Amino acid sequence: MAANKEFEPVLVGFFCNWCTSTAADLAGTTRLQYPPNIRPIRTMCSGSVDPVYVLRALLSGADGVVVGGCPPGDCHYVSGNYKARRRMAILKTILSTLGLEDRLWVRWISAAEGPKFARTMSEITEEAKKLGPNPMKSDWSL
Ligand code: FES
Repeated sequence: MAANKEFEPVLVGFFCNWCTSTAADLAGTTRLQYPPNIRPIRTMCSGSVDPVYVLRALLSGADGVVVGGCPPGDCHYVSGNYKARRRMAILKTILSTLGLEDRLWVRWISAAEGPKFARTMSEITEEAKKLGPNPMKSDWSL
């Protein structure tokens, strides 16, 4: 699909409270620049992100979803991020039947990695722009 220069993707981010949300705060307080396309939602752990949340966002027209959590081995609830990693891998398989698998990103960003957060959001926004609008965004009303 051709990139549309005017297109600004809407991305929903489910970020764990202890790592990726804190990294987002750090990026903000240190005034790092990154695109404003992400709509962050704080969760207690990436393991608490139900795949239905991701599906709901995509079927409601979000152009992409980012799940962010603590790096493997650093989850504050021991194994939540391992569970998230497995769930999101399975979800990607399901999304592939709808052609939406490239619209889900899973990233591990620790609380101290504000620059990594800003860089990652910039990269994902660029990837989402190349994908173009979510085909599920069409108006379903009759
Ligand atoms: Fe951050 Fe579990 S607490 S991924």
